[in-house]
Amino acid sequence: MIEFNFKYTLKSAIEENGLEESEIKSFEREIVTARRSLNKLRRDGEVGFYDEISNIGMVNDIKSMAEKLFSKDIKTLYVLGMGGSSLGAIFLKEAMSGMQEGIGFKNGSGINVIFSENIDPVFIKNNLDNIDINKTIFCFVTKSGDTIEVVAQFFIVKELLEKTVKDYRENLIFITDKQSGFLRRYADENGIAVLDIAKNVGGRYSIITAGTLFPAYIYGLDIEKFLHGALTYRDNILNKGVFENNPVYVMAAVIFLFYTKKNRNILVPFVYSDYLREFSRWFRQLFAESLGKDLISPTPVPAVGATDQHSQLQLYMQGPQDKLIAFLCVKDMGSDFSVNSRGFKEFDYLDGKRLSDILMNELKGVELALAINKRPSFRITIDKIDEYVMGELSFMCMEAVAVLGMLLKINPFDQPGVEKGKKFAYLLMGRKDESLLKESEELKRLNEIPDMPY
Ligand code: PA5
Repeated sequence: MIEFNFKYTLKSAIEENGLEESEIKSFEREIVTARRSLNKLRRDGEVGFYDEISNIGMVNDIKSMAEKLFSKDIKTLYVLGMGGSSLGAIFLKEAMSGMQEGIGFKNGSGINVIFSENIDPVFIKNNLDNIDINKTIFCFVTKSGDTIEVVAQFFIVKELLEKTVKDYRENLIFITDKQSGFLRRYADENGIAVLDIAKNVGGRYSIITAGTLFPAYIYGLDIEKFLHGALTYRDNILNKGVFENNPVYVMAAVIFLFYTKKNRNILVPFVYSDYLREFSRWFRQLFAESLGKDLISPTPVPAVGATDQHSQLQLYMQGPQDKLIAFLCVKDMGSDFSVNSRGFKEFDYLDGKRLSDILMNELKGVELALAINKRPSFRITIDKIDEYVMGELSFMCMEAVAVLGMLLKINPFDQPGVEKGKKFAYLLMGRKDESLLKESEELKRLNEIPDMPY
């Protein structure tokens, strides 16, 4: 379950910097219009994350692929992907280590799952030096099948496997678009094991696809429970009126109104759990890559409490009035400690307190201090960290971002700005083709400008 508290976004609490309750409520019409546009995209088959959640075939494919690949003695799953093709699986892996139980594949059979995102050669060498290549499955996750960092690592791994194992193909799996891209063609032509990512689910919405769920299944996540959480959340919110006890839409309205009417250009997801650090990295990418277009969008800047209270909080408390803080905390953290400070007079107040109570009181203290300084914040509380709640949380975030995209009148499902940098990188590495003509001219002009003398 996910609960919300919007008190400190209201004028009654933070005076002129807050919103009137009526202002939020009267935003219902805009949200209804945004939802209609999303329904149409869903109906037309252009946006697929709403329906992939209930793709039983995908779950079966993941399981039988796992049985097949791991029927021999395998110790490591080495996952290579970038951005949306890895952040979801990294987030869930970290969250799972904060869960009380895991009942997934082979129930903790000890398969080590490593993620290789960046192409820092030292990181890659260290990883490869520390695994038994014979006993490793290399899993390439790429929706497009063409991402430069992933393909470059593929050539390195392929060469290494060819030198080490009898048939290099047996240690490979690709998770990629069903029809297009280099790795799809390569898989089809060379008989490599492959799982599909639906055409209408882009990288950052792919947490509900095999791209995330295959590695997640291997490290022991109960993927059906995760999908069940996402599906139940979807049905709950979509079967009701938008403001009918449906706080995800209040949240979207609040973020939108603070951005457009109150100059709150920065959104700080402030998570109070070490097991949600990677969640905030996943969320940052989902939010930034989906919404940062046409000169608009708040900038997401994640923080972790209580750690970052000793790092960024001073700025949030007294720096520019440009931030909206979104606290995220966990009601039942599972394991806990009780502090025994008896005999230490100045710490009397800590005696008998659980660490989770201290953490929560710290959050509430920050919330109150922000409110007194007329700074808006809202709080999201999840019951606990388990697969079901992570499914709910992931779906809630994707829906909020999709709705915000409609409200901001941009396409939250593409990423045109990322392409430009890739094109220059191709040019610098000597690739020549017609699609790079414009960048070739631009590069020439920039190369002619001398550096500033210093
Ligand atoms: O969200 C996105 O679309 C991107 O972050 C992609 O996931 C990322 O660029 C990797 O792309 P691909 O999955 O095609 O390798």
